[in-house]
Amino acid sequence: MIKNQTISKILVSEDEVRNTVARMGAEITAHYGQLDKELMVIGLLRGSFIFMADLVRQIKIPLMIDFLTLSSYGDGTVSTGDVKVVMDLNSSIEDRDVLLVEDIVDTGRTFSKVIRMMRNRNPRSLKVCTFLNKPEARIAEIDIDFCGVDIPNEFAVGYGLDYAQNYRNLPYVGVLQLD
Ligand code: IMP
Ligand code: MG
Repeated sequence: MIKNQTISKILVSEDEVRNTVARMGAEITAHYGQLDKELMVIGLLRGSFIFMADLVRQIKIPLMIDFLTLSSYGDGTVSTGDVKVVMDLNSSIEDRDVLLVEDIVDTGRTFSKVIRMMRNRNPRSLKVCTFLNKPEARIAEIDIDFCGVDIPNEFAVGYGLDYAQNYRNLPYVGVLQLD
């Protein structure tokens, strides 16, 4: 059980979460228009589960969802850049239009490796989308096609993001005061 830690600052309020997801859903809907086959929306677990659930309801074209689980930080707050697939997709993405969904792009190491991995499976197209972006922390360059909110280089929790598996259920994004 985590105790005695507080949210020192709100980075993305509930209202801003709602508006951002609606804006992104509209952008994605407009970008794809009519597709031959359903769009494949792939969420990276566990962080993206809440954003993914909200986002797909704002995408107004036929779609399928799948999830990929990668090895993570452990209980720390620093990315090691060592990415392994813990649970793979259920379906093939070959010749499909794929949208990858992340909770946050920090150093970019995780997402850049996943993007490379997914490209090797020969999708028809591959676009990437993140709810949060920390541009100051970037080490691996990534072209983000659909971006939610840029945040400062601080450790964020809530709206799916965790600290030691806690705080994912906060309906907003805040900075955790670690003391
Ligand atoms: P990256 O490889 O450094 O871009 O970070 C990859 C993963 O680290 C993200 O998908 C998140 O799960 C996690 N992460 C990065 N920054 C934060 C944060 O501020 N709070 C919580 N998790 C984070
Ligand atoms: Mg993640």
